[in-house]
Amino acid sequence: MLPAVIVVLMLISFTRGENPAIQVILTRKGLQYGKHLGAGWVQEKLEHITLTDFSGEVLGIHYILTGITITKCDFPEPIVEFNPNNTGFTTSIAGLSVALTGGWMTHFGLIHDGGTFKMAIFGLDVTSVVELGKDPDGHLSVTSVSCDAQVGDVDIRFEGGASWIFQPFVEHFKGRMRGEIRSKICPNVEESIVSLDYHLQAMEVSIQVDEDLVLNIPLTGVPVIHASSMILGLKGEFYDRTHERPPFEAQNFTVPEQPDYMLSMGLSEFTVNSASYALYSGGRLQVLITDSMIPPYIHVRLNTSSMGPYVPQLPKMFPGLLMNLKVYASEVPMFSFQPGVVKLELAGAVKASAIEPNGTQIPLFKLNVDLTFDGKVWVAAGRLKGSMALQNLTLTLADSEVGHFETDTLESLVKMGVMAGLAKLNVELGKGVVLPRTRNAQLVNTVLGVEEGFIAMCSDAEVFTDSFN
Ligand SMILES: *[C@@H]1O[C@H](CO)[C@@H](O)[C@H](O)[C@H]1NC(C)=O
Ligand SMILES: *[C@@H]1O[C@H](CO)[C@@H](O)[C@H](O)[C@H]1NC(C)=O
Ligand SMILES: *[C@@H]1O[C@H](CO)[C@@H](O)[C@H](O)[C@H]1NC(C)=O
Ligand SMILES: *[C@@H]1O[C@H](CO)[C@@H](O)[C@H](O)[C@H]1NC(C)=O
Ligand SMILES: *[C@@H]1O[C@H](CO)[C@@H](O)[C@H](O)[C@H]1NC(C)=O
Repeated sequence: MLPAVIVVLMLISFTRGENPAIQVILTRKGLQYGKHLGAGWVQEKLEHITLTDFSGEVLGIHYILTGITITKCDFPEPIVEFNPNNTGFTTSIAGLSVALTGGWMTHFGLIHDGGTFKMAIFGLDVTSVVELGKDPDGHLSVTSVSCDAQVGDVDIRFEGGASWIFQPFVEHFKGRMRGEIRSKICPNVEESIVSLDYHLQAMEVSIQVDEDLVLNIPLTGVPVIHASSMILGLKGEFYDRTHERPPFEAQNFTVPEQPDYMLSMGLSEFTVNSASYALYSGGRLQVLITDSMIPPYIHVRLNTSSMGPYVPQLPKMFPGLLMNLKVYASEVPMFSFQPGVVKLELAGAVKASAIEPNGTQIPLFKLNVDLTFDGKVWVAAGRLKGSMALQNLTLTLADSEVGHFETDTLESLVKMGVMAGLAKLNVELGKGVVLPRTRNAQLVNTVLGVEEGFIAMCSDAEVFTDSFN
């Protein structure tokens, strides 16, 4: 029954009292799905295991039961519930029955005897309570709070050898055997909880996105368990190599619980903005544009004569020179999530230079470009898709080595350039990216919406049980 809990934890594949920027809610539907998978897995496993030899002494006769295999297992659906009192789960199974076969051997002085046996265990009840927590590194932890096992009845038929002599004593023998079986159950359950905890401690709490960018996802607090759900809060912060913290914090948000879906998730704008901050402070939001990067079919070239209509003095002051543009973000690009829309504010600057034939660069002017975009995100056919539209673009002359010039026509040119870029981007965003999936699970029936300050997602999951083996 513990594997049911393992399966549930697999569905969720991530310390200082801060607000979590990513929240994952497991609903009762998700828990029941996990339990159902776990139960099937246990049933299948049980039918293939050989139990350890069982030995003891009855009436001075030493006996060994050996090669014990399960021939049939009647495995009722276990009950798994959230347990708010213990910040964990209660798992119980009632009325499990198992049929076993094996060989028996006895030693009575020099007399050795042996044969086969059939055993049935009826009415096995097990209840396990586990508590979930958080270790100092932000891993999810699981500990056993209590375990209780009962064995209803045991029936054994010995065959072969002198079994007819001792079969009558089985009544006495049965009581001891029931006790032995019962005493072995909880230590086994507790062992699997320890092993599960060990696996959880080994899970990564950060994801290396690329060489310089890391998404940090430790738990920010202990899991919150309600009667109908479990909520995990994850830090959800991007770092670059310097590990510098962004100058803003994650805000509180509440993900609406959707009981019709297995999982609900919330992603705060903080996570996206921390990525933006890491890219910005790592100096990655800049690009040098040269004439060779402009497609040949575009008539406006990046040279001083071609720029004449926009900056009239250029062809006169620096005739026939190629130019380049250093484009960079002058502030951290900030995303804000509002109902139905993702807004992006971008403050950028463009430094234009002319290039002498010997390679010397002559600074010409600097422009400030402020842009705002409205974006949409949605999920269709298992892919995360989006679109972006330019809302506003203003261009101002910040600095000039060539004297003042009007920026209106240049602004129109830049706007056309941005629109052309967006058109290409939207083709890609329209194709979308496949929703993240792991080796063990994928999201299905996913619905996504933008709320105030966060993106909410609810989804079912499909777990590939063959990957457990
Ligand atoms: C939790 O504790 C309350 C009060 O002690 C009790 O009424 C309730 O049945 C408990 N719930 C569970 C799931 O154990
Ligand atoms: C976030 O909200 C919860 C409850 O709504 C509150 O207990 C907590 O103090 C808040 N945290 C911050 C940092 O505002
Ligand atoms: C500058 O661009 C114009 C086209 O607008 C082109 O005819 C000319 O050859 C270019 N000059 C240089 C130096 O590349
Ligand atoms: C490059 O050429 C310009 C004018 O043609 C000249 O003023 C400058 O000194 C030269 N620079 C170098 C490093 O040769
Ligand atoms: C565009 O930005 C300018 C300058 O910041 C502002 O005056 C104007 O109202 C904005 N237009 C829109 C549609 O937001």
